[in-house]
Order: sequence, then structure tokens, then C-alpha cells
Amino acid sequence: MTSPAPLRVLLVFGTRPEAIKLFPVVHALKADPRFACVVCVSAQHRQMLDQVLAIAGIVPDHDLDVMQPDQTLDALTANLLTGLGRVMDEVKPDRVIVQGDTATAMAGALAAYYRKIPIDHVEAGLRSGNIHHPWPEEVNRKIIGAMASLHFAPTTTSQAALLRENVDPARVHVTGNTVIDALHWVTAAIARRPALASGLADLEARFAGRRIIGVTSHRRENFGEGMEQIARAIREVAARPDVAVIFPVHLNPNVRKVMNAALSGLDNVALVEPLDYPHFARLLAIADIMLTDSGGVQEEAPALGKPVLVMRETTERPEGVEAGTARLVGTDARRIVTELSTLLDDRNAYETMARAHNPFGDGHSARRIVELLANEIGH
Ligand code: UD1
Ligand code: UDP
Repeated sequence: MTSPAPLRVLLVFGTRPEAIKLFPVVHALKADPRFACVVCVSAQHRQMLDQVLAIAGIVPDHDLDVMQPDQTLDALTANLLTGLGRVMDEVKPDRVIVQGDTATAMAGALAAYYRKIPIDHVEAGLRSGNIHHPWPEEVNRKIIGAMASLHFAPTTTSQAALLRENVDPARVHVTGNTVIDALHWVTAAIARRPALASGLADLEARFAGRRIIGVTSHRRENFGEGMEQIARAIREVAARPDVAVIFPVHLNPNVRKVMNAALSGLDNVALVEPLDYPHFARLLAIADIMLTDSGGVQEEAPALGKPVLVMRETTERPEGVEAGTARLVGTDARRIVTELSTLLDDRNAYETMARAHNPFGDGHSARRIVELLANEIGH
């Protein structure tokens, strides 16, 4: 008996976090003869996407190169929709995989839906319950959820959110979050080749003996006043002689202009370019505390037992907060300084948060997703 033709799966992604969370799925699909895996990057991000592609050894089959400086959501979305539609007409995939909640994921799902191609959603069911936080991601996820065929929910919390929205329970699978697969993969890669993550050595020497706070910030809803407050808080805490801040600054100009103006030239603050994934994993390892508004960092820090203060009013990732490793602190400068000071000065408060938890998965999510796809097509 001849084996059935491989299923043609098109993966669509465009930003750093999507690339990090989908490279384990790309690796698993490429290693599996039941699938023909085609990768299309929108390049909604350029340099920050390319950093991940290089580390993960992925050469895209299609690259739309859409990124424009300080791009608007409407121009970006329009370009994505037409560009991704063209690729789908050429590739004619059996299924399309998107991840998370970016403009690329939303437009990729919509272009597939317009062609009646089944959509599989990785990291499905995250909900903050507030359409303005995170913005526009909360609505992007809901749009994708309305069109998806299979929903790969990272946790039972995200599964429950989908069931509350009356998604067919048979279409929702709890897989864990592929970010943990990515973190395990990069940790193993660094163990084999320490040079992959050795680029922070000078900073590590300069800041030896100080408590290190790792910072990332990029959320659109925090632009303007939120970013100013975050910068003010960092400036104040970094004035302590026992503290150092390492802050890889996102390439979004709305982040850079505020952070460069407020924090350049301070002794205890290192503003650095976006780190590639091995170096960011190193930062997570050496940091005493993470201060972030990122989605992915809220997942990685609890897995590593790093206390993480989340500069948001609400989160679609309550698991880290429930586990005790993450705390929502908003973007008010006073509140951020108070929360950081508590962790720096109160050993008990620190130890209570600094415990590794595994709410987001066991590192085998990509394998589960591939098996679920194979079951779906009867291979
Ligand atoms: C996007 C996603 C957000 C995700 C974030 C991860 C949307 C609407 N937003 O936000 O969900 O959390 O990525 O980082 O999909 N830039 C560069 N080089 C890069 C990347 C960005 O120069 O490699 C600059 C460009 O000026 C670009 C701007 O950043 O126009 C904004 O990029 P964009 O993808 O629109 O928004 P992000 O804020 O990065
Ligand atoms: N990250 C990275 N280099 C950096 C900052 C973050 O590799 O300088 C990784 C981080 O480990 C996480 C992901 O990027 O996996 C998070 O991306 P980002 O914060 O841009 O987006 P979000 O997760 O908020 O959508």
C-alpha cells in the first residue's frame, strides 16, 4: 500500500515572539515525512525576526519583507492580507498554522479563511477580557479563534476561555506552550556551545556583585505616558548602588526615543540592542528580577523561577500570577519602584516569588501539536 501524500502545511509568522514559539513546530514538521512544511514570513519585524531565524536554522520559503519604520496598524494589516493571500494562492496549502495574536497571525488566518483553508491556531484561548489591554492583540486572538479549525490551548485556563465562547470542545486541545520547547532547545544549544551566549560577559563583569534587573518593554498601549513612567521608575531604582539594569531596547521607535532620552549614560543602566535568543536566555539566567510588559517573558520567567513584575493592568496569562512568580504592577512609576524595592529589600518577599513553576508546559508541545495534526488528517 502506498502511503498517503504528505500534508502541505503553511506556517505564517512575522515577529520575534511568533518565530520563537513556532520554530519548535517547524523543526518537528520538517522531521516528519507525513508533512510537507512551507514557511512564509511576513517580516512584520525584520532584524528581530532574522535573529531568531538564524539561531533556529530556518530559511523561509517566502518572505514578504513588509516592515516599514514606525508602521501603522492599518497599512501593516492591509499589506499583510494581500501579500499573504498571494502566497497562499501560489502554495495552495492544505492547512495554515498561525501563532498567537499579532497582525501577521490575524491577517494570515483571515487570508486562509477567505480561501476556505483550515486554520490551526497555536497559543489559542488567551484572554484578558479587556479589548484595550493588550491592544490590539486581545481582538486579534478573538478573530483568529472565530475562524480556527484546531485550537492548541497552552493551558487548561486558555482551554476554559475557549469553551466559554462555545468553541466545540473536540476542537480544543491543551498542548502546553511551545515557548517552553524553545527555551529547552536554546538551553541545550548553549550547553553544547557556550559561545552562543557569551556576549554579555563584559556587562556581567561590570555589574558583578549587584542585583541585576532585566527589563523589556514594547506594548503599544504603554506608548507615551506609560513608557515615560517606566523610564522614570528604572532611573530611580538604578540610582541604588546595589542594583544594575540590563535593558535590551525593542526596535520600535516609540520605545527607543523615550528610553534613550531618559536612561542613556547612567552608570548602572545598560541599554543594549535586542538580544538574540541565546543571549536573552542568558539574561534570564543572570537576572535577579525581570521587569517587563512582554507576553513571552511572563511565560519564561516562571519556568525559570525568576520573579517577574509585569507592567500591565491585566494579563491574559494569569497562570504565572497564580503560581506566585509573576505580579501585575501596571505602569505607574511609584508602584513599580515600590514593588522593585520590596523584592530587593525583603528577602522573604523575594524567596516567595523565586520558585520555578511549570504552568506553561513541559517542553513537548510541538510534538503534541504535530500528532494532533496527523490525527486530524487520519495519517
Ligand atoms: C508587534 C506585535 C505585538 C508583539 C510584538 C513583539 C502587532 C500589532 N504587534 O509589536 O503583538 O507583542 O510585535 O515584539 O502585531 N522594528 C524594527 N525592526 C524590527 C522590529 C520592529 O525596526 O525588527 C520597528 C519598526 O519601526 C516597526 C516598529 O518597530 O515599524 C513596530 O513594529 P510592529 O511589528 O508594528 O509592532 P511591535 O510594537 O513590534
Ligand atoms: N526576547 C529576545 N531578545 C530580547 C527580548 C526578548 O529574544 O532582547 C524574547 C523573549 O525571550 C521572548 C520573546 O522574545 O521569548 C518575547 O518577545 P516580545 O516581548 O517582543 O513579544 P511578546 O511576547 O510580548 O509578544
